Amino acid sequence: MASPDTDEPRLDFAGSSTPYIDYQSIDVLLSLQQPLSDAPAEPTFYVLGQVKELLFKLLYGELVAVRALLDADDVPGAVWTLRRTHRVVALLTGTWDVLSTLAPTEFNAFREHLGSASGFQSYMYRMLEYVLGNKDARLARPHRHVPKVRDQVEEALRAPSVYDAALALLARRGAFLPPEVLGRDLAQPHTPHEAVERAWADVYDAGPEDEMFRLAEALMDIAEGFGRWRALHLLTVERIIGTKTGTGGTTGVNWLRRAAEHRHFPELWTVRSGL
Ligand code: HEM
Repeated sequence: MASPDTDEPRLDFAGSSTPYIDYQSIDVLLSLQQPLSDAPAEPTFYVLGQVKELLFKLLYGELVAVRALLDADDVPGAVWTLRRTHRVVALLTGTWDVLSTLAPTEFNAFREHLGSASGFQSYMYRMLEYVLGNKDARLARPHRHVPKVRDQVEEALRAPSVYDAALALLARRGAFLPPEVLGRDLAQPHTPHEAVERAWADVYDAGPEDEMFRLAEALMDIAEGFGRWRALHLLTVERIIGTKTGTGGTTGVNWLRRAAEHRHFPELWTVRSGL
């Protein structure tokens, strides 16, 4: 910070109680980049992978906070938080613009070092999918042998999602939602139900002044943002490896194409056809 009577920055921080380097553990953070090859493009892949993991973590924390706000009937608070969450999802999606600059040959120069490492093993991503409601229990399996993270992943699988919290809120506000919607095993995926679609249709009928209308659109911002993330992952992967199989053992782009069809908060998508 500049001192009041000169325009000179303060450069001597000896004795400062919270120097920048400690506040954000910058020295630790910058010691965590250990590429496995000398390939010139590997640092980009490596750092962008770490950036994505940090953003997954940030998003997970924000969505847990949104769930608590919905549980507390604080709809304006949830909408306000989702406004920022939406921007973070957009930032996450923007990282594909950098990764798509990797020519296939640049990627091939270090791909063999990845072995069977794959995005499937991202536990933060899995927890993020779970808090959004994509409860695919099979995909918790890669984490079962990692004691440090196994419990967190299992807890996220069994916890209500943001969408579960939104549906419970709709019910508290008078929507009739049957027990199979509100009382299902939370570790199982939510099955789309016409009662939920009707409830969202009523919300849209109320118009943009209604706080539930604003919540519906704020949730759609997140769902669409994730759709973009998946679509750009698919395009980037197709551009870099074509139709080769994935390091995680799938068919690669064909698997990602199917994954890209998934929609979070399904009735918010289907209700649109009838409005
Ligand atoms: C740029 C090179 C990349 C390629 C060629 C690539 C390729 C793939 C492929 C083929 C899959 C399907 C699973 C498999 O067989 O491995 C996959 C899944 C996945 N990748 Fe990537 N990926 C790339 C970068 C990244 C980065 C930087 C991240 C972020 C950390 C990431 C996160 C994921 C996640 C989370 C999944 C699981 C998707 C799901 O469960 O829906 N990928 N990737």
